[in-house]
Amino acid sequence: MAAELKGLVLSGGAGTRLRPITHTSAKQLVPVANKPVLFYGLEALRAAGVTDVGIVVGDTQAEIEAAVGDGSALGIRATYIRQDAPLGLAHAVLTAEEFLDGSPFVMYLGDNLLRDGITELVDRFRSSDAAAMILLQKVRDPESYGVAELEDGRVTRLVEKPKEPRSDLALVGVYMFSPAIMESAHAIRPSARGELEITDAIQHLIDRGLQVEPHEVTGWWKDTGRIDDMLEANRLILDVLETRIAGELTDTSVEGRIVIEEGARLVRSSVRGPAIIGAGALIEDAYIGPYSAISPGVVVRRAEVEHSILLQDSRLEDLDARVESSLIGRGVTIARTSEKPRAYRFMVGDSSTIGLV
Ligand code: TTP
Repeated sequence: MAAELKGLVLSGGAGTRLRPITHTSAKQLVPVANKPVLFYGLEALRAAGVTDVGIVVGDTQAEIEAAVGDGSALGIRATYIRQDAPLGLAHAVLTAEEFLDGSPFVMYLGDNLLRDGITELVDRFRSSDAAAMILLQKVRDPESYGVAELEDGRVTRLVEKPKEPRSDLALVGVYMFSPAIMESAHAIRPSARGELEITDAIQHLIDRGLQVEPHEVTGWWKDTGRIDDMLEANRLILDVLETRIAGELTDTSVEGRIVIEEGARLVRSSVRGPAIIGAGALIEDAYIGPYSAISPGVVVRRAEVEHSILLQDSRLEDLDARVESSLIGRGVTIARTSEKPRAYRFMVGDSSTIGLV
């Protein structure tokens, strides 16, 4: 392949499935093991030698730009591409036409995580003549995904969220395209849900007689668009954590894989890994259980947390029951109050979910 491969990372979108977090911030910046999910993708591109990266952004552009900057800290050169509305993955490709400038490219959905990265697959694409390469993984609920049908090892049909799936091979959120995709993206029409679907554009390549190469991904893959997947991605990453304790521990016991960042303070507490506790967090008379990711500045006092992600500056205090399988937004306070009358008092954003015992 002659021209240099570019990267196109999709970091716009509506994020409806991750409300209320996405009412106020980008889902691609929700931390998995205390690192924004987007950074894993950018690092995977860099590792594959793809450094000229366009980042498609929408309403959360300012926040994404503030986090990634010019990309140099991640070893890439970032160019921001504004998509005025989340009109679909193929629409994002069209929006990036000027940036792509006829180059082949790797398209990476900014909320996806692949255990084994993409280096081997990118190398394979570099030496292939295919018009596109798609990554696939068997799933139990293909009706929730874009699905590929194969015949004799060739892709014959792609369907977005099929009601009656004829294949259990879901499209993983990383695609490799030759410039031929642009013509197909121009040719297709919006789907029933009003989006320009990348599956339709790839189908168009196939219908033009061009080769679309499938590749089954064997290591784990997570699309973190829903809370359960986000928590599972967090679990998978924490599972391979290397213990590092830089914070200050007083009368506190720790076991298992644990990272405690500098400036974190743990007092009369117990931590059972895998878990990560960010800089400046305060854990006092508390229990932090397996698969917890505690962001910088969080306070957990006289409370217990397990299998949860707590975002920056949130606070849990004086709770009787353990907080489990939860995603707590930035600056959220959950605490017992002594005000009378004795009652639950909420100030909660739209689309929040609260489970009481
Ligand atoms: P999705 O998760 O499929 O879509 P979404 O972000 O709108 O979320 P939801 O379905 O919960 O409303 O998008 C995959 C990735 O692509 C995600 O990182 C957002 C990004 N994206 C864009 O950048 N532009 C778009 O037009 C769309 C649809 C998605």
